[in-house]
Amino acid sequence: MTVPSTPATDVEALFKGSMAALASGVAVVTGTAADGSPRGLTVTSIASYSAHPPSVIVCVDEACNSYAALATGSHFAAHLLQAEQADVATLFASSATDKFDQVPWTLWDDRVPVLSEVLAVVICRRISTTVLGDHAIVVGEVVDGSMREAQPLVYWRRGFYEGPGVSIDGG
Ligand SMILES: Cc1cc2nc3c(=O)[nH]c(=O)nc-3n(C[C@H](O)[C@H](O)[C@H](O)COP(=O)(O)O)c2cc1C
Repeated sequence: MTVPSTPATDVEALFKGSMAALASGVAVVTGTAADGSPRGLTVTSIASYSAHPPSVIVCVDEACNSYAALATGSHFAAHLLQAEQADVATLFASSATDKFDQVPWTLWDDRVPVLSEVLAVVICRRISTTVLGDHAIVVGEVVDGSMREAQPLVYWRRGFYEGPGVSIDGG
């Protein structure tokens, strides 16, 4: 009699399913390439890193067109998107080469492309890049930015959602 073996855990499926269950805000991170052109991509791998100094972390795939600008550039801008900006998230998640022709933006300090009308933007001086596997972990110290009162765009189970408008506990 053959004893059925315990199926090996499909770690990749477990990883993808578990991470898809993590609801997160959505950011567009922008920087400037060596030739001076703007670059940017949609990320969910953004997080607060420390308050001392105020800093954020973002993970960037080395296969992205924006990689060099973010991994080696002096500064970058991380924009948290508003609820109604799923179209902006989709644009910056694409490989389009004309992303910056399709959205309003300005240059901060002549060096960092900053998108208009987002929930919040933090402009960062890059303080560290750690290459690990096929991604770089980029840490930036927040040096400027702006924010407004609005609902966030949320990514969950491979879809975009308008963020919660009402607190459940009323707090
Ligand atoms: C919701 C969402 C989150 C993403 N998060 C990341 C991320 O954290 N890091 C990353 O490198 N790519 C992420 N991507 C993929 C990039 O946005 C995508 O590869 C993009 O085309 C890169 O643009 P670029 O090649 O012009 O730099 C994400 C895509 C989506 C839709």
